[in-house]
Amino acid sequence: MQNPASTAEVTIVTGSSRGIGLAIAKALATAGHRLVLVARDDTRLQALAADFTSQGHAAIAVAADLRDENAATHIVAAAERAFGPVTAVVNNAGTAPADKVENTTPAMLRETFDLHVGAPLALARACIPAMKRAGRGCLLQLASTAGLRGYPFTSAYTAAKHGMVGLSRALHAELSPAGIQVYAVCPGFVDSDITRGAAAAIAARGKTTADQAFARMAAQNRIGRMHLPGEVADATARLLRERPTGCVYELDRTEPAFVD
Ligand SMILES: NC(=O)c1ccc[n+]([C@@H]2O[C@H](COP(=O)([O-])OP(=O)(O)OC[C@H]3O[C@@H](n4cnc5c(N)ncnc54)[C@H](OP(=O)(O)O)[C@@H]3O)[C@@H](O)[C@H]2O)c1
Repeated sequence: MQNPASTAEVTIVTGSSRGIGLAIAKALATAGHRLVLVARDDTRLQALAADFTSQGHAAIAVAADLRDENAATHIVAAAERAFGPVTAVVNNAGTAPADKVENTTPAMLRETFDLHVGAPLALARACIPAMKRAGRGCLLQLASTAGLRGYPFTSAYTAAKHGMVGLSRALHAELSPAGIQVYAVCPGFVDSDITRGAAAAIAARGKTTADQAFARMAAQNRIGRMHLPGEVADATARLLRERPTGCVYELDRTEPAFVD
């Protein structure tokens, strides 16, 4: 009989210290994945890894700033030391700079691309050799409907999320023949620190309340309400478990579905 530990997934979840990433980490821990938790806040991450471990799950914390081009090799080396080859990566870490286009600087654009496109590409480069040897693997990007359509006051974010979806399509075309599945999961607005912070920033301009700003964001979702982090986590866990053949999975629909 095979040792179950030797068949368990070894999964990097970036941005897993809070919000959607933490919900994904919890769903994957329950599904038996050995977790590599990544974010910048080392103290918070170490406490979370200890929580997971105390509940009988396998988890390590690797603090890193994913905009740093050396972060991916450092994370993958730590994962391999702890658990062996990485079998899945969930690229969830993200920030959502919001401003009018006149205030969107080249530095903002570069930083947003480094995090949403550069980091997933670097982690793919570091993990693909072992995945190819195994003939199996999964790279999943937490993209957004901002990767499929345009939103005002988010030109750097919307461009980077389109880049993330484009990267996913290219990796899917190149790697699925090698048994590596690549997904871009696209929710609309999700109730998390990012949206709560954006609502507070809008309210600070004095023309509306944070609750009204939050409600207006929710109304932009085709489903007519905020997505919940748990719903995004459930969809992510299902894709990792079932490994369907599509690539871009849109959640902001009455029936979530692959759009290509
Ligand atoms: N919230 C939404 O409405 C929404 C909708 C669609 C898609 N998304 C996408 O979903 C993902 C998660 O969003 P969220 O709402 O859960 O955000 P969140 O609550 O703000 O969490 C972001 C996570 O990313 C980490 N992070 C940020 N910058 C990082 C960096 N440079 N290096 C490493 N880790 C970094 C943060 O930890 P540290 O600060 O400790 O680094 C945190 O764990 C993002 O990619 C976002 O674009 C969000």
